[in-house]
Amino acid sequence: MPSLETIVDGLKLPNPFVIASGPPGTNGNVIGKAFDEGWGAVVCKTISLDASKVVNVQPRYARLRAKDSKEIIGWENIELISDRSFDVWVDELKAVKDKYPDRILIASIMEEYNKDAWFEIVQRCQELGVDALELNFSCPHGLPERKMGSAMGEDPELLEEVAGWVHEAATIPVWAKMTPNVTHIEDPTRAALRAGCQGISAINTIRSILGVDLETLRPEPTVEGYSTAGGYSSRAILPIALRMVMEIAQVIRDEFPGRTLSGIGGIESGSDAAQFLLLGADTVQVCTGVMKFGYGMVQPMIDDLLAFMEKHGFDTLDDFKGHSLQYFSSHTELVERQAEVKAKRGEKSGGKMVDADDQWRGDDFVQQSDSLARG
Ligand SMILES: Cc1cc2nc3c(=O)[nH]c(=O)nc-3n(C[C@H](O)[C@H](O)[C@H](O)COP(=O)(O)O)c2cc1C
Repeated sequence: MPSLETIVDGLKLPNPFVIASGPPGTNGNVIGKAFDEGWGAVVCKTISLDASKVVNVQPRYARLRAKDSKEIIGWENIELISDRSFDVWVDELKAVKDKYPDRILIASIMEEYNKDAWFEIVQRCQELGVDALELNFSCPHGLPERKMGSAMGEDPELLEEVAGWVHEAATIPVWAKMTPNVTHIEDPTRAALRAGCQGISAINTIRSILGVDLETLRPEPTVEGYSTAGGYSSRAILPIALRMVMEIAQVIRDEFPGRTLSGIGGIESGSDAAQFLLLGADTVQVCTGVMKFGYGMVQPMIDDLLAFMEKHGFDTLDDFKGHSLQYFSSHTELVERQAEVKAKRGEKSGGKMVDADDQWRGDDFVQQSDSLARG
């Protein structure tokens, strides 16, 4: 029987399934529920020292559904970090740690560009006994107006300075959570790892506008008739998250061996998780999936991942972590490889496939498109 147990930055997890920062970790009550259901670790909703500045609106979610099945495939939110006071959080996180001493509790934290504030929040979280910290350098809405969240994650120099302050104060592992709203995720990744962060979490939500209501002509989600760009999550972002996780994993493998990676974005099954692990993630995090399916989804995810491992004869997560990274190449090399294979087979053309753009025809355009696709 394979084992899902894993040790990441010295933290022992019963499985790699972690609740991502957001509503599923928004108070002590729901964090306890997550542990009861079997989640390997919980990252709490992002907390800050002065919650009085955090004011949310309703509605703050909008969802994209598949045309026929009505399945939710995309989810936009304009939710801020926690609006609950830091003192309340201290009491609740302490109580959770007392009740679940062996479970891994990670505090997601965010502060303004102020060294003293970062020192204070790091020290107070450590004192209360959390196991690790996740630095939210990635919330895409609301907070950047205060130079917080993704305003830091989009600026590697600023990120490195702030992560450096945290490193000075921290005695527990620190993960930096990346925004995907940058051209090259490798740049903030390197900045965080240079500053001393043990791990990278990626990705947070992608800046989006879910749609425009064709009756009212107002963008969604509409708050008193108006909207603002928000963060996109759920199934639709999984391929983008996989690409960024691959790029971060390559940086870790080549330049910062031993550092860790927590993959996030659209994960809803053990098979989804397996793909992130194959691309180099040590753990995976789930937020919107829990909002769609509830905390109990972790058990089928565990079974699904174990079935994948059994099928391939993998005993531990390390047996396949990062395995698929070796299969990435440049497009130029793909062309060369394919030419070699075709030459060996004595093939001149790709059979029914479109080899060159002048072969496209108008009458069976859809079939020709299908012939070039996998899946
Ligand atoms: C409603 C909502 C609230 C979120 N709040 C936070 C937050 O407070 N801190 C944070 O780091 N990420 C937050 N996130 C981002 C998630 O942790 C996660 O990075 C993102 O949603 C992608 O993963 P998913 O597709 O599994 O949801 C939030 C996401 C959603 C949908």
